[in-house]
Amino acid sequence: MSNTPTPQDPSLEQQVEILKEQLYQAQKLTALGELVSTTTHEFNNVLTTIINYAKMGQRHHDQQTRDKAFDKILAAGQRAARITTGILGFARNRPEGLESTDMVKLVDDALLLLEREMTKYRVQVERQFQPVPPAMANANRIQQVVMNLLVNARQAMPGGGHVWIRLTHDPALDTVDLTIRDTGSGIPPEKLPRIFDRYFTTKSGPDASGKGGTGLGLSFCREVIEAHHGRIRVESTPGKGTAFTIKLPAARQSAPSAAAKPGFPLPQSAPQEPTAGV
Ligand SMILES: Nc1ncnc2c1ncn2[C@@H]1O[C@H](COP(=O)(O)OP(=O)(O)OP(=O)(O)O)[C@@H](O)[C@H]1O
Ligand SMILES: [Mg+2]
Repeated sequence: MSNTPTPQDPSLEQQVEILKEQLYQAQKLTALGELVSTTTHEFNNVLTTIINYAKMGQRHHDQQTRDKAFDKILAAGQRAARITTGILGFARNRPEGLESTDMVKLVDDALLLLEREMTKYRVQVERQFQPVPPAMANANRIQQVVMNLLVNARQAMPGGGHVWIRLTHDPALDTVDLTIRDTGSGIPPEKLPRIFDRYFTTKSGPDASGKGGTGLGLSFCREVIEAHHGRIRVESTPGKGTAFTIKLPAARQSAPSAAAKPGFPLPQSAPQEPTAGV
């Protein structure tokens, strides 16, 4: 008789990994549910556009009006397709490896999914994209990171405000850098070191849109960025705003699949560097 675990018993480490994966799946489903409700609205708007221009085309037989109607219908149809592609991409269980990823498209897709929510809360989003090489990333997870950061920014500005999204290439480290800066409440210096802790939140619960308050968003972001061998950094000034920067390794053009990994190993180091001052 001994207490040696049988080969079927997962070790404690394995159990933690399994639980982490389950937590990730649960978070993904919650995010998906929220997306479906916001995008259904957006989809209805697109359908209204299509129906109205189709009616206009039926009523007016001159070439100019019909051309315009077709153009509008085509643009609305393409927009609807982008929305569904975004949701499907999000829902699909893509392979967990890292691959050469177009960050411009990834951020634009995230923005498209959150556009309605941002408008509703009077948040003006400005893109400042410089030409960047592809990043070595798991598009699904990085898109979730971007959405977490954007929702946090929006929640820090209950009366509306500005968000700047910047994409740059850092030639010294060969990283693709994404900065999301807001004009929100900022984070007091004594709280700054804790924001990446699991379950740390200053929110009393879900807001009117049903989002927020578990304190899991940033700890998820940190884990994902660590698994990418990247870095996440925050700068904040109370009363002025906050900026989160993530740095992801650029994909090597010569051997794009060489660094691709089937799994998602977590390195030991803690890469977040909370510093004060925006
Ligand atoms: N852009 C920001 N501006 C101000 N405070 C922020 C910002 N982003 C994060 N925070 C602070 O960090 C805390 C932790 O953020 P985190 O995203 O981990 O959790 P949460 O947003 O409270 O809940 P959720 O699990 O729904 O994301 C927040 O409660 C908030 O106090
Ligand atoms: Mg959050």
